[in-house]
Amino acid sequence: MSVAGDVDKYEKVMELAKRRGFFWPSYEIYGGVAGFYDLGPLGVRLKENIVSLWREHFIKRQQHVVVEIETPIIGPSRVYEASGHIEHFTDPIVECLKCGRKFRADHLIEEKLGIKAEGLTPEEMTKIIREHDLRCPVCGGPLSEVRRFNLLFKTTIGPYTQNVGYLRPETAQGMFVAFKRVYEVSRQRLPLGIAQVGRVARNEISPRQGIMRLREFTIAELEFFFDPEDPWQGGVLDELLGRLGDTKLRILTADAKMRGKDKPEEYGVREAIEEGVITTPWLGYWMAIARDFVLDLGVSYSDMYFDEKLPEERAHYAAQTFDQLVRVSRLGWLEVSGHAYRTDYDLSRHMKYSGQDLRVFKPLKEPKIVEKKIVLVDPRWLGQTFRKKAKDIMNALRELDAESVEKRLAEKGYIEVLGARIPADKVKIVTKKEKITGKKFIPHVAEPSFGVERLLFVTLDHAYTERDGRVVLKLPRRIAPVKAAVFPLVRDERLVKIAREAWWRLLDAGFYAVYDDDGSIGRRYARVDEIGVPVAITVDYQTLEDGTVTLRDRDTWKQVRINLSDLVDAVRRFIYENTSLEKLAP
Ligand code: GLY
Repeated sequence: MSVAGDVDKYEKVMELAKRRGFFWPSYEIYGGVAGFYDLGPLGVRLKENIVSLWREHFIKRQQHVVVEIETPIIGPSRVYEASGHIEHFTDPIVECLKCGRKFRADHLIEEKLGIKAEGLTPEEMTKIIREHDLRCPVCGGPLSEVRRFNLLFKTTIGPYTQNVGYLRPETAQGMFVAFKRVYEVSRQRLPLGIAQVGRVARNEISPRQGIMRLREFTIAELEFFFDPEDPWQGGVLDELLGRLGDTKLRILTADAKMRGKDKPEEYGVREAIEEGVITTPWLGYWMAIARDFVLDLGVSYSDMYFDEKLPEERAHYAAQTFDQLVRVSRLGWLEVSGHAYRTDYDLSRHMKYSGQDLRVFKPLKEPKIVEKKIVLVDPRWLGQTFRKKAKDIMNALRELDAESVEKRLAEKGYIEVLGARIPADKVKIVTKKEKITGKKFIPHVAEPSFGVERLLFVTLDHAYTERDGRVVLKLPRRIAPVKAAVFPLVRDERLVKIAREAWWRLLDAGFYAVYDDDGSIGRRYARVDEIGVPVAITVDYQTLEDGTVTLRDRDTWKQVRINLSDLVDAVRRFIYENTSLEKLAP
C-alpha cells in the first residue's frame, strides 16, 4: 500500500531515517542544537549518490560547457560586502520583551495570523503585530519591534580580530571570484558553467523544520555565464534544447499569482522561453535539467512544479527567480532548488570592489577599421601653464568627446577642463584610424542551486511505502546506498561458504553490498527492503546442485534464478540499466 498523503508518514520517514542511520539531529548527547544534522552511514551513501546523479545531469552531460571547482568555506569580509550579503542577507526577527525568546517575524505572523508576510518591511510587520496584538507564543509577553537579522556566520581569519571573515552562505561567490581564472584555464569562450558542491552556513533565527532548514548544509550549484547579447550562444543552446525533446515544465508564474491563480500551468520548455515566461533562455534550459534530475530521484511529474517568486520575494541579486517545489508529506510543497537570473550583478560588484577587470573579450568576426577623432593639447604648454595639475588635465582630456570639444571651441574659442581654461590655438583635433577587433563585456549568469539535505529527505519521503505492514523503501536503484544483499537460505556451512564468496565477488566489482545470515530469511528480506536494497541474492540447496541462485526484486518481491557465474553482470544490469528481473533470467 502506498502511504503518500498520510499525515503521519513524515513521522515514519523521520523515525526510519534515525533508526536505520540515514540522519539524526546533531549533538544529541548534549541535548541537540537546532539546525544541525548528522548523516549516518546510509545517509552519507545516499547523499553521495544524489550528488553524483546531480553531477551526471548538470556537469557530465554538458561537459563541453560546464566545469567543476572547489573554493574555501571561509571568505574575507570584502567578498561579502561586494556580494551584497552583508547588507541584504537578512531575515526579520522579533523578540519577546518578557522572556527574551527570539522568533522569525514573518513565520510567526503567517503561523499565528495566517497573513502572508514574506517580503514585507520590518515596519509593515511591526504594524501587523501591533494591530493584531500578536504576543509571544511561549509566555504571552509583548513583542519588540521587528528588525533585520543578518544570517552570515562571522569569524576572524588568523590572530587579528580586525581581520573579519564569513562562512559562505552559498558556494556561488567562489565561482564569481574565480570566474576570470576559470575562464582563462578552460575554453576562454562563453557559455561557461562553473559548478560546485560544498558546505554552506546560514545562521537561521529559529530553525524548526528538522533537516529541511539547517544552519549548515550542502549546496550543489551551477553559475552559468553567457553573453546577454547572444544568449543562444551561436547554436550551443539550440543543440542542448534539441536533445531534451518536448520536455514540459509545470510553472506558476508571478503574473498568474497576482491574478489570484494558485495552480501551475504546463509549458513546453522552448515555449516558456520563447513566450518570455522565463526571461532568459539558459534559465529555462537548466530548469528542464532540474526537472529531469528530480524525476530521477523518484519524484513524479505531478508532484513537482516551478513557482516564480514575486519581485519582493526575490534575493537581492536576482532579476527573475523560480523555486522548484516538490510535494512532501506533512509540509506540503517544499523548495528543493532555486533558479535565479543573476544578470551581471555579481561580476559587476566584484569588479567594483576588487578593482579588477572581470570582463571577457568578444572578438568580431572581421576586424573593423574605424576613424576616430581625438583631442590633442600641446603637452609642453600644458606642463608649463598648469604644473602639478597638468597630468590630471591630460587624463581628463582623453575622456572628452572630440565632437563636443569642436563645438565648444567654435562657440567660445576655448574649452574648460577641471577648471582650467585651454584656448583654441593650443588644441588640435586629429582624425586617427583605429582597428577594432572586438569588445569587452560582463557576462550574465543563470543559476540553478539545490539544497542537498532537502533532496535526501524528499528522496526518502517519495521512496517510502508499506506492504503487509512493513516498510519497503523504493529508492531508485542507482541511488540506493546499498545495491545488493547476499543471503544463505539457512546457516548451513556449505551455503554460507558460497554466499560469502558471492558477496566478496560483488564487493570486488565495486558494489556496496551486505551479507546477512542472521534470523529467518523473511526477516532478512524485511531488513534490506527497509533500507531500499534493490536486489537480494539467496544461495539455497538448489545452488549446490546446479550452481544457480535466486534474485529477488525489492519492489515486486518476485524471484528468478540465474547462474552464479553471471551474478556480477546481472546485478550491474539490474541496477544501472534498469533491466527487469525477468530479462535477467536465462
Ligand atoms: N546561491 C543560491 C542561494 O544562495 O540560495
